[in-house]
Amino acid sequence: MRRPIVELVGTGSYTPPRVVTNDEFSKLLATSDQWIRDRTGIRERRVAGPSETNACMAQAAAKHVLADTGLTPLDLDAIVVATCSPDRLLPSQACDLQALLGATNAAAFDVGAACTGFMYALNVAEGLVAAEQARNVLVVASEKLTTITDWTDRTTAVLFGDGAGATLARPSANGRGILASYMRSDGTLAELLYRPGGGADHPPDEQLLKDHSYFIKMAGREVFKAAVLSMADACDKVLERAGLTAGQIDLLIPHQANIRIIEATAKHAGIPMDKVFVNVERYGNTSAASVAIALDEAVRTGRLQPGMKVLLVAFGAGFTWASLAVQW
Ligand code: COA
Repeated sequence: MRRPIVELVGTGSYTPPRVVTNDEFSKLLATSDQWIRDRTGIRERRVAGPSETNACMAQAAAKHVLADTGLTPLDLDAIVVATCSPDRLLPSQACDLQALLGATNAAAFDVGAACTGFMYALNVAEGLVAAEQARNVLVVASEKLTTITDWTDRTTAVLFGDGAGATLARPSANGRGILASYMRSDGTLAELLYRPGGGADHPPDEQLLKDHSYFIKMAGREVFKAAVLSMADACDKVLERAGLTAGQIDLLIPHQANIRIIEATAKHAGIPMDKVFVNVERYGNTSAASVAIALDEAVRTGRLQPGMKVLLVAFGAGFTWASLAVQW
């Protein structure tokens, strides 16, 4: 096991107050609370209102981290935001967040790895600290996914929600921090989970609005299988790299997309469900924000205590997948 380069200190999250239950969807679409709960474990999700921008949610999560760590925005050397639903395509979400925070000493940029974004961003933060580019790196994952979700498509609409989570990466003290990490992607499978239109290859036009190609499209069954295999692979690889066994893991925080994917991942990793943090029933899939929100809730509810070993694992569009073993 190598000595950690960075530790993660302080956590924060924000979820919009508006709750949309499964029953609300069954009034709009040919679906039911029973179907959604049985197939996904989701009971409700949060939906941001017009004034709750991606940047505002990111700011709210970041403020908790600053309060936890006693830092001011001016202490931040870098801000890395993971998102696939930025408020606007140019400039980056991180630059808008930087302006809101008044973090004028920071370099700010986004990381795009969909639902795996928070994990990728933590790896980038570790690299910045290792290269002595930065000491205090704010890592935020923030999504307003419901704006890029097709509310007329029952196969995707019921799955996603909005929210943000954050933490701070800084040079490790006392052996705490990231023990090992693993990142992978497979771009050949991109079209199983993607937004076909709206980018430079298919700029916005009337057709785009007509065929809903601005929204997320997903081949659910194929994505399900890949998610289980990839998260299992990521758990195995990071445990091996960290020199740990599953029995030494105190808490698994997986990407919250579907309870059946979470259960299959835990089973493969050999981690009992009482050591798995689950909040998918309340938020649905908040993409990059998912693990970040769960991490904050695990800390604030006392599930994650100093001295514990925690395994973070995620899978998303790309496909991308990654895992981190962290000494908390
Ligand atoms: N309500 C009712 N029926 C629905 C439905 C809904 N919300 N969504 C899909 N169905 C229907 C399908 O149309 C299909 O009907 P058909 O048999 O008449 O064609 C049937 O349910 C079975 O569809 P299928 O896609 O095989 O169901 P599933 O058991 O695979 O569950 C998902 C669908 C989307 C819940 C599941 O595939 C999944 O969770 N995939 C991964 C999604 C995910 O996590 N994505 C993000 C990864 S980061």
